[in-house]
Amino acid sequence: MQDFFPLTVTDINHDTRDAVVVTLAPRAEDADRFRFRPGQYLTFRRDFDGEELRRSYSICATPEEGLRVGIKRVEGGAFSTFAKGDLNIGDTLEAMPPQGRFGTEEETGGKHYLGFAAGSGITPILSLIKSILSGNDQAKFTLVYGNRSVSSVMFRRELGDLKDRYLDRFNVIHVFSGEAQEIELFSGRIDADKCHALFGPWVRPDTAEMAFICGPEGMMKDVASALEEAGMPKNRIKFELFGAAQPGRAKLKARAEAARKAGNMVKATVIMDGAPHTFEMPREGQSVLEAAREHDIDAPFSCKAGVCSTCIGRVKKGDVEMAQNYALEDYEVEAGLVLTCQCYPVSDEITIEYEGH
Ligand code: FES
Repeated sequence: MQDFFPLTVTDINHDTRDAVVVTLAPRAEDADRFRFRPGQYLTFRRDFDGEELRRSYSICATPEEGLRVGIKRVEGGAFSTFAKGDLNIGDTLEAMPPQGRFGTEEETGGKHYLGFAAGSGITPILSLIKSILSGNDQAKFTLVYGNRSVSSVMFRRELGDLKDRYLDRFNVIHVFSGEAQEIELFSGRIDADKCHALFGPWVRPDTAEMAFICGPEGMMKDVASALEEAGMPKNRIKFELFGAAQPGRAKLKARAEAARKAGNMVKATVIMDGAPHTFEMPREGQSVLEAAREHDIDAPFSCKAGVCSTCIGRVKKGDVEMAQNYALEDYEVEAGLVLTCQCYPVSDEITIEYEGH
């Protein structure tokens, strides 16, 4: 069952012109539910003009500091505009307990870590930087952070304070796309060429234990492949994507409609809380998650973009394919796990079980 719980806004800090950092407190009885690991995020829900919107924002603090999320206003974004302009201390927001598998469950120890962030992608990485550096006095972190200009750098002061505190262990390389820099290398976008130019003198993938990447899709792919080319094993590269490219909804709807009209349907069984629900769904244009929800099954979801892993299910029968997968490791896919928001039937009959529900 997917549950939302009230969180009270205890502080609001307008970090930049476009971004706000919101501190939240759960009710005493929900404190355990809201314990989190660095790199996780919260999913909020709120009604706007009668339509329920869900939005996920990464936690930027360490577990010791408590719940704090960074929200950057996006053009036309109802939730982020509300958070930046109309949210007040004392207000209540509804959120699901922390989720997400960005970060590492390994003992971090005295090793060297890399982070690559663009814009608000810094949010989960900041949480990781702070916990890694405070968790071991030998640990090192190198961050490459891309922004349009100095004024759009989120957590600028906090990053500066961290640099002062961990002089020899924390290194930040700012890359600006809209402002010329004295050193040409630090101008432009974080792409494959930029990575290759930085590797060696500035950033050492060869000595790094793990790399964390958070930003838009193109940047994330570029950095990941540059790191792999530099010899970093794929399973040491962790990423959290925001703004995933989604196929147009209208297009998908039209394909689902056409499949329905042509009678191109498959038999789907979704097992939820141990109970099977069987229905017909179009072979194209509608994900298993959407079909399940259309049939009043309370299937869990958050991003609907193949990023967050909230919608994980297991294929018990039949074949499916995933349109996007930014959350599951190869071995998990081999073991039958799927992101149901990205999952489309291939065989005439499929059975998917939501585990832990
Ligand atoms: Fe986020 Fe499916 S809802 S991966």
